[in-house]
Amino acid sequence: MNNYEEQLALYAKNANDALRERLTFKGTCLQMQVIDAMRYSLLDAGKRLRAAFVMEFARLCRAARGDAVAFACAIEMVHAYSLIHDDLPCMDNDDLRRGKPSCHKAFGEANALLAGDGLLTLAFETAADASLPDAHIVEAVKTLSRAAGIFGMIGGQVIDLASEGKQIDLQTLNLLYELKTGALLRASAKLGCVAGGADSQMIEAADAYAKACGLAFQITDDILDVVGTAEKIGKPIGSDNENHKTTYVTLFGVEGAKEAAAEQVELAKKSIATLPDNQFLLWLADMILTRDH
Ligand code: IPE
Ligand code: IPE
Ligand code: MG
Ligand code: MG
Ligand code: MG
Repeated sequence: MNNYEEQLALYAKNANDALRERLTFKGTCLQMQVIDAMRYSLLDAGKRLRAAFVMEFARLCRAARGDAVAFACAIEMVHAYSLIHDDLPCMDNDDLRRGKPSCHKAFGEANALLAGDGLLTLAFETAADASLPDAHIVEAVKTLSRAAGIFGMIGGQVIDLASEGKQIDLQTLNLLYELKTGALLRASAKLGCVAGGADSQMIEAADAYAKACGLAFQITDDILDVVGTAEKIGKPIGSDNENHKTTYVTLFGVEGAKEAAAEQVELAKKSIATLPDNQFLLWLADMILTRDH
């Protein structure tokens, strides 16, 4: 493991520890089956890329150690909720997620729906509980709401579903990706900046970086849906084809999609090129391109 992999693993561990604590409730209650479904889909799973964005930008903005953890947990909760709903039969209808049966396969559709809702609402409670000045918390909650909502992730999912089985142009596809995937990554970078009380120049650089990373990340996700293995990516391959989605691979082929993702990664690296201490971010951008899961 190189230093950067270690750093990413440490961010993931910090997020995992804090998420487990947040999802630990004493005693039993009648809602336990939905809490179990939330824990099943959220804990010790996923790459924690969004948490890493929050924590690295917080570090670069000199937030005190641990200040950004609540925001990292909040964004991972929103992300996990989006995945639970994304897999439902009425959406992508995928039976495997994070290397195990999707939430609705393990707990039934109604519990999966409610577990997603439970994570979304808990995310806002978690962000609001951060040990930071009130103004920073309000800014974070606004950022998270917008990124998760109809002008963010949900908006992208709406366009994604409405586009199934249709030929859509590149402009529409880019908008769809910017919303369904880019919005939460941009919010992650912004939350890190907010935790550290960053100036507008830093916030702009972080946003440009996350925007380009978001597009590269989704293009790579499309590629892995075709050339990956279910064992590695922990979700079914061929899902996009089965659902008749337009993707970068259907428009440009695997090689063309790889080139487009590489272009975005260069753009991401350029946008933070003058930031001091940017080595982890440079590595992370490359990792988005070379990842196999
Ligand atoms: C999957 O995101 C959904 C997309 C936006 C492509 P990730 O690949 O980050 O999923 P986890 O969190 O590692 O499971
Ligand atoms: C993910 O898009 C977008 C979300 C908001 C969850 P995909 O539908 O391609 O994500 P995967 O491939 O199922 O993880
Ligand atoms: Mg989807
Ligand atoms: Mg999907
Ligand atoms: Mg996908």
